[in-house]
Amino acid sequence: MNDRVAPNLISAVDEARHWVRLMEMAELGAIPGPTPEDPGVNRACLTPLDRAARRKLIAWGAEIGLTASVDAMGNLFLRHEGTDPAAAPVLTGSHMDTQPNGGRFDGIWGVLAGLEAVQAIRAAGIATKRPIEIVAWTNEEGGRFAPGCMGSMAWSGFAPPETWDNVTDPDGMTFRAALEEHLAAEADIPRRPLGGRPHAYVEGHIEQGPRLEAEGLDIGIVTGIQGSRWFVVELTGKSDHAGTTPLLLRQDAVQDMVRAINALNILTQDPRDVLRFTVGRIEVSPNTSNSVAERVRFTIDLRHPEKEVLLARGDAITGVVQAAVRGCKVAVTERFHAMPTTFQPEVPAAIERAAAAQGLKAARMPSGAFHDAQFLVPVCPTGMIFVPCRKGVSHHPAEFARPEHLAAGTRVLAAALVDLANG
Ligand code: GLV
Ligand code: MN
Ligand code: MN
Repeated sequence: MNDRVAPNLISAVDEARHWVRLMEMAELGAIPGPTPEDPGVNRACLTPLDRAARRKLIAWGAEIGLTASVDAMGNLFLRHEGTDPAAAPVLTGSHMDTQPNGGRFDGIWGVLAGLEAVQAIRAAGIATKRPIEIVAWTNEEGGRFAPGCMGSMAWSGFAPPETWDNVTDPDGMTFRAALEEHLAAEADIPRRPLGGRPHAYVEGHIEQGPRLEAEGLDIGIVTGIQGSRWFVVELTGKSDHAGTTPLLLRQDAVQDMVRAINALNILTQDPRDVLRFTVGRIEVSPNTSNSVAERVRFTIDLRHPEKEVLLARGDAITGVVQAAVRGCKVAVTERFHAMPTTFQPEVPAAIERAAAAQGLKAARMPSGAFHDAQFLVPVCPTGMIFVPCRKGVSHHPAEFARPEHLAAGTRVLAAALVDLANG
């Protein structure tokens, strides 16, 4: 096993090349940020920008001899061949789509860290028995088509690939139509079957929380991911004239939404601040100043590390909303659930060995954000490497991670990949 540092591997990870690639990717979908030094990224999945990013990745992979393939969900793979091509591969990667008001590191770092790690392994002349595949999962963010993690959910068999066919984006395009358009645009890339049985999966990601930076740590060895449930609440009332309709005659969907959210805030109170409840998107119709709202749709994102809490509070949502509203019809739909997961010991152990061998300060920690890795757990030993990000900010253009932290995470990934691919 890998309890020594392979100096040629470590020095083959090129911090400057890695950073330049990240910044080049960030130009695809660049949006203004809080300062000129902090531009953000808006690169929605299955758009021309997403395809441009994927072509760039494929080209960088081709330069070093990696072969690309795509499955029926648009998940993209770059393969480094093993000395035993029939052996189950080690998979590494993350996603290339961003939030609409996203940053330069969420997702894309894990993909480019995989590329840099594999490039370093090849440059160091290290042969791996198992192939290593870099994956970019389709639609992790759920920003254009909700929910997120569609690519990994379908790949792992968690849900059939047709599940989201009729989900629409804000312009009314269905996920199926967008996926078909996308697959047609990538028809020149060889197709591979959906699914697989890798030897292991390792995902690199910025922490998206403040702990590593605050404690001066280099590496987070992720132990598992808290559970999430997403709901859409639809309240239907009646639209009326804002100046003439007495309150008693109204069925005001916005007022009922306020009542519902107040009641949900009580349902989700947690003095320990472990239960996370977010209403992040509200659609009002007809959405004019001088009309009573007829219809409101709002989203709920609920998270907790314990399954029992997530189930009990999530299952109570419909009743709480129904009891809170005055007059509107209520429909609550659950559109995503991922129960809390604990990673098997193998991959965290490989990450821990690599970090220790490189003299890095590492700590085991859970993930508050969800990740594609969650859906790989039933398929193979899985783990994640976190690196610090500034003040823990993420899902925002101000998201920032330092080049040296990203390079350190990439070196740990490279060593862990060799360990797993030869183990
Ligand atoms: C992932 O993007 C999450 O919302 O946790
Ligand atoms: Mn992410
Ligand atoms: Mn994200």
